[in-house]
Amino acid sequence: MNDITKACKLLKSGQVVGMPTETVYGLAGLITSPEGIENIFKTKERPFFDPLIVHVSDLVQAKAQAKYWYPVCDLLAKHFWPGPLTMILPKADHINTMITSGLDTVGIRMPNHPIALDLIKSLGTPVAAPSANKFKKTSPTRAEHVSKEFNDLYVLDGGPCEIGIESTVLGVFENEIKIYRPGMLTKSKLETFLSDHGMDLKVTYQESPVAPGHLKHHYMPNLPIALFWGEFNGKESLSQSNIPKEKLEKINHWKLPTDPNVAARELYEKFRSLDSKDASLILLELDPMVQELEDWKGILNRIDKAKTFVI
Ligand code: TXA
Ligand code: MG
Repeated sequence: MNDITKACKLLKSGQVVGMPTETVYGLAGLITSPEGIENIFKTKERPFFDPLIVHVSDLVQAKAQAKYWYPVCDLLAKHFWPGPLTMILPKADHINTMITSGLDTVGIRMPNHPIALDLIKSLGTPVAAPSANKFKKTSPTRAEHVSKEFNDLYVLDGGPCEIGIESTVLGVFENEIKIYRPGMLTKSKLETFLSDHGMDLKVTYQESPVAPGHLKHHYMPNLPIALFWGEFNGKESLSQSNIPKEKLEKINHWKLPTDPNVAARELYEKFRSLDSKDASLILLELDPMVQELEDWKGILNRIDKAKTFVI
């Protein structure tokens, strides 16, 4: 049974708690508790140079975390929150620099999950929360994943995550939006929305130059992942590949579903279920066509960071 009062008590005493969101599970710490923030990094074994997202439950709280709140922020927040969108804005002075890894900007998001919103409302204070996995490992999409990774952690169980990959992270500027991390909220959805509302802002993809969290390798299960473009017909399909022979002994194969929403929802779940001790490789089969489709950009970004081989 989920006990919000217990979770609040733990957070107020500087502990961390597993929290469901619609994207992936988060490892929450109270933003006003330096001990709680430090505990997030320690628990995750995350280096202090990788900044955290502040999760809020309403617009007043969101605005209080930023030094500047541009007109476009109101528009985006009212339309896409609660939801899988994080806005990076100049930080308010009160935000602990441990949260932002010393940057003068802060990530803000209102998650679309009743338990997360209830928790933050009950606290009356936002929580910082990265995904609830060990650094560089696969993000969790079920409470069990979190409990398995962190033995003694109190985890609020909100069921399986609806979206399955992390939020779209936007650098928001007065006249420009930069997509630092792609997600299921895509560039064209943003562009259409902005032009429908008479906002003439340029939207571009740009991996954040300032956020070292965007590392080359991330989201990795224990077994190596091979990304296979095209139709996989068993081991013969791999005869020309550079994969070492011993990795081909037992292949756990998954053909991704054609619907990107389903593929995103199942992606990390599959990274986990295919990561079995008796196998030597996870092979993801993908139709090359999806490279042309924007809805796949977030999924391909995660696979690209998690993979070891491409065929
Ligand atoms: O969906 C999500 O965003 C999930 C759930 C739990 O809300 N959270 C999540 O957090 O994915 P995390 O810490 O795993 O990823 C946050 C990303 C990192 O890549 C980090 O570098 C970037 O956001 N980020 C955070 N603050 C930033 C800042 N001030 N400037 C640029 N990037 C920032
Ligand atoms: Mg993460």
